[in-house]
Amino acid sequence: MRTLLDLPKAHLHLHLEGAMRPATLADFATTAGEAAPATRGFTSFAEFGGMYRDAVAFLRTPDQLARITREVVADAAESGAVWIEAQMNPMFYVPRFGSVEEVLELVIAEGQAEADRLGIGFGLMVCALRDAPPEAAEELARVGVRYVGRGAVSFGLASDESLFPPAPFERAFAIAREGGLVSTPHAGELLGPDSVRDAIDLLGARRIQHGVRAVEDPALVERLAAEGVVLDVCPTSNVELFVVPEIGQHPLPALLEAGVRCTINGDDPLLFGPGLLEEYETARTVLGLSDEQLAGVARTSLEAAAAPAELIATQVAAVDAWLAAPA
Ligand code: ADE
Ligand code: ZN
Repeated sequence: MRTLLDLPKAHLHLHLEGAMRPATLADFATTAGEAAPATRGFTSFAEFGGMYRDAVAFLRTPDQLARITREVVADAAESGAVWIEAQMNPMFYVPRFGSVEEVLELVIAEGQAEADRLGIGFGLMVCALRDAPPEAAEELARVGVRYVGRGAVSFGLASDESLFPPAPFERAFAIAREGGLVSTPHAGELLGPDSVRDAIDLLGARRIQHGVRAVEDPALVERLAAEGVVLDVCPTSNVELFVVPEIGQHPLPALLEAGVRCTINGDDPLLFGPGLLEEYETARTVLGLSDEQLAGVARTSLEAAAAPAELIATQVAAVDAWLAAPA
């Protein structure tokens, strides 16, 4: 049996704090002399967002942020990732311990150092928040582009899509794209096809975080396939956040069958449970993806990664070798 651990893959949709190890959060709570916050049992996206922010509130020093960055990279490597593109918003930390620049520099330095040590690649997705003013996203894009070529690779947009659709963030994404960051907003998670179309048409997205609700519109599915837009899909997250009713009904197989390029990701393992490898296992055992399809997903993740061309070429060849080996 080809093991999914051995399948080289890029982890393209992962929130840095949402990927914190539960034991690390417990440690930070102990240090603070407080009870660890709840990370399960949310019944709405709003409650989920509250728990996310409660966990972030325990990151109070640069050393703590450095530690979770190193651990998130190490956990990706343990799942067989050869490239990790973690996303974070530096604004959480600015009142606590530094400027936007200092926070970005810390995360990039720690992420790259740990990735180098483990022989994998690391890139940072600078992630704006929809519940902050669009001007804040524009300022973040201006700072983020200064780190192009020095660790920042893409520009994201997270938090509640249903309350804050994409249009007001057009200028921020124009700044990011013109500065060399790949446009990678969340869309098609809490809103449907129109939001996915806006992410492409207004924000210039070539990779969409989630995007699965595109499946509600066959014409859009056709367009995604024709244009090669990549969906960074997170199956367990979609169940946990009520985007799909149960894992067996996840649209990933249908999207792949329709020719849409998809990747598989963890999103927020701290709050949802499974890491990257477990998500691939679920795709194999529950969603019934064949090894050809799983290799295709891994190949897409590498081709769509904002990673160095040499890493991509080497690892795509390694995916082909994985598939060529006896089943
Ligand atoms: N922030 C962390 N996880 C998220 C998700 N799944 N959707 C939107 N924003 C998020
Ligand atoms: Zn996400």
